[in-house]
Amino acid sequence: MTGANAEPTSDTGKTAAVTGATGFLGTHLCERLLAEGWDVHALCRPSSDRGRLAGSSVEWYVGDLFDGPTLRSLVDGADAVFHLAGVGLWSADPDTVRRVNRDGTANVLEACRACDGDTGRLVFTSTAGTRRPRDGDEFADETDIAEPIGAYQEGKAAAERLLDRYARTGGGDAVTVHPTSVFGPGDESFTPQLLAMALEPTMPAHLPGGLSIVGVDDVVDGLLLAYENGRSGDHYILGGENLTYEAAVDRIADHADGTAVRSRVRVPATAVRAAGPVAETVGAVTNRHVFPFSRGMARLATSRLFYTSRKANRDLGYEYRPLETHLPETIEWYRKEVRG
Ligand SMILES: NC(=O)c1ccc[n+]([C@@H]2O[C@H](COP(=O)([O-])OP(=O)(O)OC[C@H]3O[C@@H](n4cnc5c(N)ncnc54)[C@H](OP(=O)(O)O)[C@@H]3O)[C@@H](O)[C@H]2O)c1
Repeated sequence: MTGANAEPTSDTGKTAAVTGATGFLGTHLCERLLAEGWDVHALCRPSSDRGRLAGSSVEWYVGDLFDGPTLRSLVDGADAVFHLAGVGLWSADPDTVRRVNRDGTANVLEACRACDGDTGRLVFTSTAGTRRPRDGDEFADETDIAEPIGAYQEGKAAAERLLDRYARTGGGDAVTVHPTSVFGPGDESFTPQLLAMALEPTMPAHLPGGLSIVGVDDVVDGLLLAYENGRSGDHYILGGENLTYEAAVDRIADHADGTAVRSRVRVPATAVRAAGPVAETVGAVTNRHVFPFSRGMARLATSRLFYTSRKANRDLGYEYRPLETHLPETIEWYRKEVRG
């Protein structure tokens, strides 16, 4: 038996507290922790779908990031706190996005502080989006801190500053990881969009620009390595292969063989950029989210956002695998669960 209900291979005797456990990345992390013999305590909202973790040995703490007493009992005595809960612009308005990512993180830190040294290392999942390559550079690293674009990056950047302060002057032990675009089964946003671009006759177009694609299992490795080997106060990019959209879509189509769409049109960068101001206006007038959400994000969607994970490799022992490694399981999931 595999997955959340499999027997652990050993017992670490350690407890992990996880926020965001019911999300894409959190579910994969919890499955790995259980398989490695951790006790897993996880936050979920009353409305959360526990998905593949339902019926597992996860001990649930029902509440949210704004429920101090529940957060305190979640982290109290935990050897590791993995704070993954967050929200993106697809699912909430900008104020909520900023508040959940920034103030929600402040509340997790407050809960750890209140436990007075009885809580182990906090590993915070931010985003690579708070970094961008400098003009003329091909890749961004941890030092390339960028002016945030939009509420999501603003919230994450503010949360990172709180973490840094907690680790450097607040006496806490905390590490920040920055995943790039995470690919794998169970994702409701990026993965099905990328697969649709490669596989669906109704989506014969791809975006200009490029991105770093990392398999979800590689990010889980990175989270555990950051816990074990990271230096408190440090930041680590957890990236994967840097690919243009065109190359990514071609490689997926090649792998899927035969069933894929072969003649795709690249959406011109000027068209995506022109859509930015329109989306901004529609959003302001109708209170509905239209992608790209703003001019700044239209610029991002057409750029090459490439990242290096050299620091995580050197200091943590982090390694990522090529896109093809992740395709069989992910395409099978997409065809079964997304396309039905
Ligand atoms: N996926 C990526 O490509 C990517 C890349 C870089 C960074 N990240 C970061 O990695 C983390 C996990 O991403 P993901 O893709 O797994 O996201 P996801 O699938 O959207 O999951 C988000 C999780 O956060 C929880 N959550 C949201 N608001 C909450 C609140 N107010 N109180 C408590 N829990 C709340 C959700 O609970 P419900 O189940 O109740 O909704 C869910 O468990 C996020 O912080 C994200 O910003 C993701």
